[in-house]
Parts: sequence; structure tokens; C-alpha cells
Amino acid sequence: MTAIPLGVPRRLVEFTIDGQEARVPEGSTVLDGCRAAGKDVPTLCQGDTLTPKNACRVCVVEVEGSRTLVPACSRRAEPGMEVRTDTERARHSRKIVLELLASSVDLSTTPMVAEWIKEYDAKPDRFGPAAARLNEEPKIDNDLYVRDYDKCILCYKCVDACGDQWQNTFAISVAGRGFDARIAVEHDAPLTDSACVYCGNCIEVCPTGALSFKSEYDRRAAGNWDESAQKQTTTVCAYCGVGCNLTLHVQDNEIVKVTSPHDNPVTHGNLCIKGRFGYQHVQNRG
Ligand code: SF4
Ligand code: SF4
Ligand code: FES
Repeated sequence: MTAIPLGVPRRLVEFTIDGQEARVPEGSTVLDGCRAAGKDVPTLCQGDTLTPKNACRVCVVEVEGSRTLVPACSRRAEPGMEVRTDTERARHSRKIVLELLASSVDLSTTPMVAEWIKEYDAKPDRFGPAAARLNEEPKIDNDLYVRDYDKCILCYKCVDACGDQWQNTFAISVAGRGFDARIAVEHDAPLTDSACVYCGNCIEVCPTGALSFKSEYDRRAAGNWDESAQKQTTTVCAYCGVGCNLTLHVQDNEIVKVTSPHDNPVTHGNLCIKGRFGYQHVQNRG
């Protein structure tokens, strides 16, 4: 009989969240526990397929005995920990983070941010019109995707997805420091002159729409992007034998973008250029 190797069972860690008992498998984060307990802890730089970067700090919670607020997305749950998600201190910190981000970045295509701004009573306008903005036109230098760094919160997710966490192409990185820090390819060149292989794995993880499919960008510009009218169908890519899963987003009987399920144990949401962008033959049959 062939033995099927199973993962080593993980011990459960017991701790409390807002006074309620929580149990998560060893190695889980405080955020995993909060989500399992139905707590609404906002996140921006956290990615379910990426190592936490602790870049945005919108997920902070209070932990008994900890001098500072703790980023829930990266702190591992420990036995006996007492976590509080909704204290005045945590809420105040989230509010300031949202105000700083929303005053300096265009968050109009970031899911949930409008709700969080309301919930935390954040007032991004209080920094006035002189708040530091990039105010840069979107970079449209290829047919596949658009880079609109006016929407970039410098979360580093795209850098990690393009680099050693997934794609290993290292086409994009953070250039400059301080206020001049920005995501760029080498020498800030057009994407077409860079090492980019157009896998689109950076778009898959970008939380704000700073990186977006050209098809989505064009439809948004034409006022014709309607997620409520889109149907998603997950299928298998037919280009090669790897068998990646593709999720086709269809609007008006047209594929408008292709993503990939993050819980797929082989691809973890990543694709290559063919699976991600090579769908035109499906809709150009004439
Ligand atoms: S499309 Fe792929 S290779 Fe190009 S920048 Fe994005 S992750 Fe890197
Ligand atoms: S382009 Fe998107 S993924 Fe990359 S750092 Fe900016 S917000 Fe994050
Ligand atoms: S989501 Fe935790 S630091 Fe950004």
C-alpha cells in the first residue's frame, strides 16, 4: 500500500481576542485568529500569498504587556496572549494611518477604504491641499498593464511578488528614499525596456489598483467597469501541461481580466503571460 504523506499536525495555540477564547494552529498570526473570530481588522499591505512586510500598520491591535501596538498581520499568536482589537489607542492609530495614506495617495480604487475612513472617522482633508502627492499621470507604455503610481501606498507587495517570493524576475523595486521613494524598473525606464516578463503577478497582489489590467483601466476610463455585472469562472489554462487555474472575469460576454485562485497549492495566484493575458482568441473567432 502506498503511504500518503500528510502534514505534521500542528498544535493549537490558545489565547484571547477581546476577552473571547481563540484557538489557532501553531504558526498562525494574530490576524488569522481575528479573522477566524469574525473581527474586522483592516489590512492593506498584508497578502495571503506573501510574507508580511509590516509596511502600512493599519492592522495594529493592542497586546497586553506590549509597550507598542502590534501589527496583527505579522505577529504570531502565542499561548496566553491577550489581544484587544478595538481599543481607543488601536482605533486612533488606524485613523491616523488612513488619514496619512488617503491625503497623499489616490485610494479611489482601493476596496474597503471608504468604509474604513467612515468607520474610523478619518479626515484626510485636514492636511490641506498641500499634502504631498505624486500627481503623476499613469504610465501606459504597453498593451497589457498600467502603472498608476499616484495610487501606490508603497506596500512592497509587487516587489516581493516580482522578486524572490514568487516570480524571481526582479523587474521592479523601490527607487529613491524618503519622500522620493517610488516603485520603478531599472533607471525608471518604460516597462518595455525592463526585465518584466508580463506575468501580471504584481497586479494580482496590488491592493490599491496602482497596477491594473489595461482592459480594466480602459473600461474604468470609459465608465464601463462594473464588477457587479461580472461573472467569474475558474477553469484550467490550456496552454501547457502545468494546468494552472484561471479565473476568468467576464462582463458583457467579454473576458475583462484573468486572475488565479490564491489557495491553489501549485500556483498560489501566480500565472505566466499566456494564462494571464493570452485570452483574445476566445473572443475573436471571426
Ligand atoms: S508583470 Fe511579472 S515580471 Fe513584470 S513587473 Fe510584474 S511581477 Fe515583475
Ligand atoms: S504598486 Fe501596488 S503592490 Fe506595488 S507597492 Fe504600490 S500599492 Fe503596493
Ligand atoms: S496589514 Fe499589517 S502592517 Fe499592513
